[in-house]
Amino acid sequence: MADAHVVTFYDRHPISAQQILDKLRDAGQPIDGLTAADLWPHDQDHYGGLDANDALAARAGIGADTRVLDLCAGLCGPARHNVAVRGCTVVALELNAHRAAGASGLNELVELDDRIAVVQGDATMPPFGDSVFDVAWSQEAFLHIADKPPLLAGARRVLKPGGRLAFTDWVAGLALTAADRRMMDEGIAAKAIHSPGEYEQLLQDAGFASISRDDLSAAWRPILEARLQTYRHLREDAQRATGGDPHADYVRFYERFVALVASGALGGARFVAIA
Ligand SMILES: C[S@@+](CC[C@H](N)C(=O)[O-])C[C@H]1O[C@@H](n2cnc3c(N)ncnc32)[C@H](O)[C@@H]1O
Repeated sequence: MADAHVVTFYDRHPISAQQILDKLRDAGQPIDGLTAADLWPHDQDHYGGLDANDALAARAGIGADTRVLDLCAGLCGPARHNVAVRGCTVVALELNAHRAAGASGLNELVELDDRIAVVQGDATMPPFGDSVFDVAWSQEAFLHIADKPPLLAGARRVLKPGGRLAFTDWVAGLALTAADRRMMDEGIAAKAIHSPGEYEQLLQDAGFASISRDDLSAAWRPILEARLQTYRHLREDAQRATGGDPHADYVRFYERFVALVASGALGGARFVAIA
C-alpha cells in the first residue's frame, strides 16, 4: 500500500511538468514544436541521466519490439527517451496524480502519447493482466516502497515468462543505522533501503532467476557531491538575498547523505532478474 508521505513528497518536489516548461520558456525556447530531446536536460529524475537509461536498457535488452512497463515512471522522462531512441512502447505506472497528469501532458506535447500510456496507480498493485510485458523497468523509486513482496510479485506476474525486471535503487551497507534510515525517510521519503543480499533474496522469493547486480556507488558519489555543492550555493544566495537561512536543514541533511555514500553505508545498484 502506498505511503501518503511519498505522495506529499512528490507533490512538493521541485521538478514538475510546469517547472520544466517554465525553464524552457525562460531560455527562449518556443513550446510549440518541442521534441522529446528538448525535454531531456530537465525531465530525468534519477542519477546519471540518459547514460543511465542507455546502460539499463542495454542490460534489459530493450529494442523496437519490446513492450516496457515503467514502474514509478515520474514525469516519463526515461519513458520518452526509451521510446524516441529505441522505438519500444511503454506503459508508465505512476502513483502521484499530479505527476501522472504532468507526464501525460508532456507526452502529448512532444507527440509520443501514441507510444506511451500513462496509468495512475500503485506499483504494488499493477492493474494489468498476466504475462503482458517484456520488460519491467524502474529507477530510484523502489526505496519509496516499504513492502517489497507485493511489488516484486506484481512485476513478475505481469512479465511474460523470460521477461526482464531491470531497476536501479539505493542499497544499504552494513553501517546504515536506524537513525540514518529515519533521516533518509525524512529527507527523501526512503521507506525501505535493502542490502544487496536482501534484495537478491527478495527477488528470488518472488520467483525471479538469473539475478545480476552492478555496483553503481562509485558512479553515484560524484553526482551527489555535485548536487551538494549546488544546494550550498543556493543556500548562500538565499542567505544573501533574505538575510535568513531557509535551506539550512536540507543542506545539513544532504551533507549527511553524501557522507553516508562516501563511507559505504549507502550505495547504488542496478539489478536485472528474469521472470
Ligand atoms: C525519483 S522518481 C523517479 C522517476 C523516474 N524513474 C525518472 O527517473 O525520471 C520516483 C517516482 O516514483 C513514484 N512512486 C513512488 N511510490 C510509488 C508507488 N508505490 N507506485 C507508483 N509510483 C510510485 C513517485 O511518485 C515518483 O514520481
